[in-house]
Amino acid sequence: MRICLLLHVPKHIEHFSKFSPSPLSMKQFLDFGSINACEKTSFVFLRQELPVRLSNIMKEINLLPDKLLTTSSVQMVQSWYIQSLMEILEFLDQNPDDHKVLGEFVDALVTIRNRHNDVVPTMAQGIIEYKEAFPQDPVTNQNIQYFLDRFYMSRISIRMLINQHTLIFDGTTNPVHPNTIGSIDPHCQVTDVIQDAFHSAKMLCDQYYLRSPDLVIQEMNSKKKNHPITIVYVPSHLYHMLFELFKNAMRATIETHESSNNLPPIQVLVSLGGEDMSIRVSDKGGGVPFRRIENLFSYMYSTAPAPQIGEYTRPPLAGFGYGLPISRLYAKYFQGDLQLYSMEGHGTDAVIYLKALSTDSIERLPVYNKTALKNYKVSQEADDWCVPSKEPLDLSLVLQIFIPQSVQACLSELSYSDVMICCGRWTLNL
Ligand SMILES: Nc1ncnc2c1ncn2[C@@H]1O[C@H](COP(=O)(O)OP(=O)(O)OP(=O)(O)O)[C@@H](O)[C@H]1O
Ligand SMILES: [Mg+2]
Repeated sequence: MRICLLLHVPKHIEHFSKFSPSPLSMKQFLDFGSINACEKTSFVFLRQELPVRLSNIMKEINLLPDKLLTTSSVQMVQSWYIQSLMEILEFLDQNPDDHKVLGEFVDALVTIRNRHNDVVPTMAQGIIEYKEAFPQDPVTNQNIQYFLDRFYMSRISIRMLINQHTLIFDGTTNPVHPNTIGSIDPHCQVTDVIQDAFHSAKMLCDQYYLRSPDLVIQEMNSKKKNHPITIVYVPSHLYHMLFELFKNAMRATIETHESSNNLPPIQVLVSLGGEDMSIRVSDKGGGVPFRRIENLFSYMYSTAPAPQIGEYTRPPLAGFGYGLPISRLYAKYFQGDLQLYSMEGHGTDAVIYLKALSTDSIERLPVYNKTALKNYKVSQEADDWCVPSKEPLDLSLVLQIFIPQSVQACLSELSYSDVMICCGRWTLNL
């Protein structure tokens, strides 16, 4: 049976990748987990939707450069995806009214979730191997960035589906947060999550630097004045984003104020409007030059020393260069965003934008289609903006090349700006 399935895997991938994934809204997630939650409906939806999401992204894995695709790490990730796809396909012809089948499905999902636990570091390892072995060009880097954003977003969404089903239908309630529906808290208190994330980052920071900045939180609830801000959200996603932002803000603050006894606090402003719920994390950590801001969202871009990975080493405060790009994906997953505004010499504001209304929070999912395919085929084209020379322009040379000597004599009396205007005229006349 297994071997037969394995032989047909490419055919199944082809078939399921022809369907577009179906994005769910926060409301639909809640309905799946409400009092009348129907395990059978969820089972029937997932046994189709999971193969669709897996197959869509598996098609994109195949578009990676051959030399990256054949690294042992990427091969391993690919084998996990194939294995998981096969395990779900086994449920396609099973009876949804059979309780035994539903129980086995929950077990299969738990196995799949565990199998994919290390996808991010394993894929990262593959990319490191590839980048070390082969010379880099900007187009390949851009393709890899494009792929990783989509691949990790797909992974976030698949885990969300699996978590919801397994948490809701494994017959237990969450002892710490009994009111959550799967991983969603319908009344997520934003400042509680901020405090938790800050506390965890502070502990790490204290271990490394033996000190850490304080936190100041301010709330602006435009809907209900003086009421704590709550949203329908996945607290673990929010926690992840804030934890990453706090680690970055703390590191920048401490490294910039090394010789000072006082550390400026990290200030957080939470604001709830009609459409957005925004969280701004501000530090006075010296900021980042404007030119580098987009780099900060590149996978593996880090200014921290590469951390040691080992069983007995403590978790690092920084160094993988995955903190910002993955956090931005979490924000984008439910139609939000994460942006950085920095003023070099002063500090950085990182802003998380989330949808205030659960009806607007709808999954954002990659789909494999012609547009995606085209994006992998982008080739290196000449820039349509001039690339400024690194050397200062030698005007005397310009004059010698473009302007007859008789005219040069007159021009030598003119100011720099006059010369530029004249050059313009001369060039136009040529
Ligand atoms: N608030 C900030 N102030 C100054 N620089 C920052 C700030 N946030 C991020 N950076 C810069 O952006 C880089 C990338 O950040 P990112 O969080 O993605 O990776 P990292 O912190 O280096 O490693 P990790 O994956 O462990 O988080 C950092 O190395 C740092 O140089
Ligand atoms: Mg970081």
